Parts: sequence; structure tokens; C-alpha cells
Amino acid sequence: MCGIFAYLGPSEKAAEIVLKGLKKLEYRGYDSWGIAAEQENGEIVIEKHVGKISEVVTLGKELTEPAHLAMGHSRWATHGGVTEYNAHPHTTENQDIVVVHNGIFENYLELKGDLIKKGHQFRSETDTEIFAHLIEEEMEEGFEVAFRRACKKVHGRFGVLAMHKGEKTLIAARRGSPLIVGKAKDGALFIASDVPAFLEYTKDIMYLDDNQMVILADKTARFYDMETDQSLEKRLITIDWKEEEAQKGSYAHFMLKEIMEQKESLARAINSDTELILKAAEMIKKAYGTTLVGCGTAGKVAMVGEYLFANVAKKHVNVKFGSEFKSARHFLTDRSLMIAISQSGETADTLEAIEIAKTKGTKILSIVNVETSTMARLSDLVIPLKAGPEKAVASTKATTSQIAILTLLAYAVADRLKEGKQMLIEAEGKLNDMLNPRYEEHIESVADQIKGAKDIMIIGRDMNYPIALESAIKLQEVSYIHAEGFAGGELKHGPIALISEGTPCIIIAPNDEYKQEILSNAMELKARGALLIGVSPDNAEIFDIWIKVPSAGNASPIMDLIPIQILAYKLAVLRQNNPDMPRNLAKSVTVK
Ligand code: G6P
Repeated sequence: MCGIFAYLGPSEKAAEIVLKGLKKLEYRGYDSWGIAAEQENGEIVIEKHVGKISEVVTLGKELTEPAHLAMGHSRWATHGGVTEYNAHPHTTENQDIVVVHNGIFENYLELKGDLIKKGHQFRSETDTEIFAHLIEEEMEEGFEVAFRRACKKVHGRFGVLAMHKGEKTLIAARRGSPLIVGKAKDGALFIASDVPAFLEYTKDIMYLDDNQMVILADKTARFYDMETDQSLEKRLITIDWKEEEAQKGSYAHFMLKEIMEQKESLARAINSDTELILKAAEMIKKAYGTTLVGCGTAGKVAMVGEYLFANVAKKHVNVKFGSEFKSARHFLTDRSLMIAISQSGETADTLEAIEIAKTKGTKILSIVNVETSTMARLSDLVIPLKAGPEKAVASTKATTSQIAILTLLAYAVADRLKEGKQMLIEAEGKLNDMLNPRYEEHIESVADQIKGAKDIMIIGRDMNYPIALESAIKLQEVSYIHAEGFAGGELKHGPIALISEGTPCIIIAPNDEYKQEILSNAMELKARGALLIGVSPDNAEIFDIWIKVPSAGNASPIMDLIPIQILAYKLAVLRQNNPDMPRNLAKSVTVK
């Protein structure tokens, strides 16, 4: 969470470059923002505000003065409320040292106490501010040494970036939170939490890995090991991202664009490299115990995976949410396998699970969208989603690609890859029945009928039970209506008490062996006054509203989810919420 971006180069418009780039990182946090620039006379000027950086049209006068060095931050609040004081950058009292930070300095209270005793004064409630003061304490031997010493004092996972008045230098360090250096042909240097910030200027990048720091000055990036202080050689990598993929185009929101892109993204996932899928399947077959790990939506995808492996390959796999992984470490050995599922590849809890697994010698297979991510680089084998950039906070196209890849893997483990692929291809061929304006209109009319609801319940069985859970996440994230997903059979053990006259209940009823059972559960709801919305290939008499989905066999989790993604989107728009940037959330959760 939190986006960091800095520029050092020949342009006089450093602050404007940073403003523009930060807007592309806004998905990482949008509570407040701030930019600091070093003007030609050496003065550091700072502007920071509460609110979304995407809404900023022009910077204040001081920041539009010529500057070749600027850094900025878009915040997702952790320590300290959403106020201008707590917005980054943070500085020393004299504003000579300026810092932006992503992550958490876990021991900041202790360090802050010591600094206060030494006479330092603080303006914010953040953990970040201490870092500027820690550097100041150590400045005797210069900025570089001071920065390094400050890093050694802080605990936790972080990405931190600092500048010191008059030095025309940026220093950054990473322990857990991503930072990537970009180098343009004109000698300009960039450092950012994610590549899109500088993609329009360069595709040549260098990664900062954990426990490394980088010094950007005089058109050069020098890398060091944070522990040993030894200098490191880094390879310049040219990435093949397309700038236009990260734009909204003619769509009103990224969320809708990404839902509609599922025609292409799913086709790419289904056509994943066969060799790679077979290799991954071999790892699963050989493993003494496989655990699927993910967070949020990816965690629900992991649950779908558990059912897929059981139903298709008759194989038991374990599932853990990243944040709940720790207890599973007792069962890992060097013959176990972890399958990490993630869009960003930067989710702190999933990364932590991987780190724990690696200490046991467990092999890591990741299914991840951002191929350049930390997760991908920590893995023994990576199956890329190839879904293209996903910008809306609520995951859609990455989700269905993840399910498609798990489906391929389950079939490959059952030695039936061809059959599984064919089934997915047939399902994909039916996507046009859903991803079209008429269907969208129908779902909009459903959204209109339920937009005033206080609660929405979703039920499913078997593979579609986790889809009910994921549907609830989608609805919560963007509509802000209380939504909950349940296994159909569990309703009568408690949740049914919540149903009252008119409560919308979504019934996921594919043509599978559980159809009669889920329809019986729907009847139980109807008898208590629920408004039944059936998501099913066939209409049923009990449905008050029917959303038709193609019949798709074991691809039903993918097909059933799509109309609910559209419903969540439509509800958000009708309720005047911003579906791309829901309140209180961030796309990439890089704190535990
Ligand atoms: C956040 C996002 C979700 C996502 C989850 C896991 O909560 O809002 O859309 O599912 O993080 O992210 P990952 O990048 O690991 O898939």
C-alpha cells in the first residue's frame, strides 16, 4: 500500500512528472498525497493534501518552479489518521531531510521516545517521521552513511526513500515493500513502487531486492547490500508492458473495462504454455502435501482450487489465507509445495507465507499477474496470468484467469489436460453471451431493483461456495452494501435468521449434481420472504429475477462470477460510489 515515486533528471518539471506518475500509482492508496521538490536554488518545497491525487489539476505555484529532483507519495493510512500532517513526505524540523515511506516501522514508538529525549520534535502521528530524524542524528559522516544507519535501526517491512537538501541525490532502501528503478535514455532516473509510474519515459528497469539500497545521483544508480554495505551489480531489464493497456480508453471506469477484457484475458490464461502447466502439475503430483495460499479474492480462488483438485484430480490440497498461514508451517517440509496465488505478487501476508515456507525448503509455485513482482522472483516456478494490468481495486479479470489456471492444473494432475482445456475453450466461447451491452442492461435493471437493500446474501455449493464468498467481497468492496456469502447448506444453521421480507438473495445454481439441493436452500429463503435472484443456466419457478449464465461444467465458477462482477459494478455506479477506488481499500496490500 502507498505509492512512492521520484524523479531525478534533466527536466525542469520534476514535480509535474512526479504528480503525473503518482496518479498512476493511486490504486496503492488514495487517502492523501504529497510532493517535495528541490528547486534550483537548493530550497526544498513541499505540498501535501488530504484527498485523491487523481483529482489534482495543477500544483501550487512553488512546485511549478524549475526543479530537477522531486519525490512524492500517495497514502493508504496505517499509523495516524487521514490528515495533512500525516500525509507524506515527512521531514526534520528544518526540512533539510525529506522522507516518503511504504510499509511499517514496527519499533517506531521506541525510536520516537529516544528521539524525543534527544530533543527532536514531531509533527505527525506517523511511524514514517522518525526516519527523517534518525538520518539527522547520524549526519556526521554524511547522508549516505546516515541513511544506512537509520535503516539498521528500524524493524519491519518497508520501502523508504529520502533526499537531503542540496545533494541532488535520492537514496532508497527496501525490506519487503517493492521499489523499482527506471533509467531513461536522457539520463533521467526514476524510483517507484510500481512500473506504470514511469512507463511513458522508459521500459529499462532495475529491481531493488530485499535488504538492498540504491543511491541515485549524477545519472547513475548505485546499489548496495544493506547489511554488508557491499556494492552490487544490477542488470538493466527491458520490460514489454504497453502504456495503453494501463489506460481506461472509452470506458467510464477501469472496473468495467477489466470485466469486459475477460474475453481476451481468459483466452490468454487458457492458452498458457502447456509445458509450463505440465511441469507445475508434476510438482503437485510429486509433493508430499500442497497448500494453496492467497489473500482476499485470491484466497477465495484458492478455495475454488481445493474443490477443483478434489473433484477433477481426486487430490486433497490444503488452503490457507496468507494472514492465517503461520500455523500451517508445522506441516511443511522440503518435500511440500506451496502454490501462491496473487494478482500483484506484492501482498505482504502471502509474501510472508512464502518466506516461512522457504525456510523449510518447501518449493514455491506461484500463479501471479505481475511477472516482475517479488512473489514471482521468490518462486521456483511461475505461471503468469497474462491478464494485463489490473487497475481497479476490486479484482475481476485476474480472478477468472487464476481460476482458469487452477482448472488447467487440476486437469493436468488428473492426466486430462486436453479435456480440461477444451472445456475451458468452450466456456470462453460463450462469454459473448454475457459480455455484451444487452446483458449489461439487464443486470443494471437488477441493480436498480436492489440498490436500496441493506443486506445481500449469496449462496452456492461445492465449487460455487467460494464463488459466493468472492461475490460477497465484490459487492462489499464497491457497493458498500452489507453482503455475505454462505454455503447453501449452512444457512439454516444461523444466517437464515437475518432474512426478512425482500432481502435480496443471490442463488448460484449451475447445472451440477448439487442443483436440487441449492434450489431447496433457495426455497427455504423464499419461505422467509427473500427476493431470489437466480444465477443459473435455466430459469426456475422460484426465482423472482433470473440472470442467465451459460452452462459450463467445471468452468461454472468462472461463468457464475462474471454477472456478479457486473452487478457489483452497476450497484456502485447507481449508488454514486467510485468503483475503481472504493473507500478504505487499496489494491496492493503491502502491510500485514
Ligand atoms: C486487496 C485487493 C484485492 C485482492 C487482495 C489480494 O485486498 O483489493 O482485490 O484480492 O488484495 O491481492 P493480490 O494482489 O495478492 O491478489
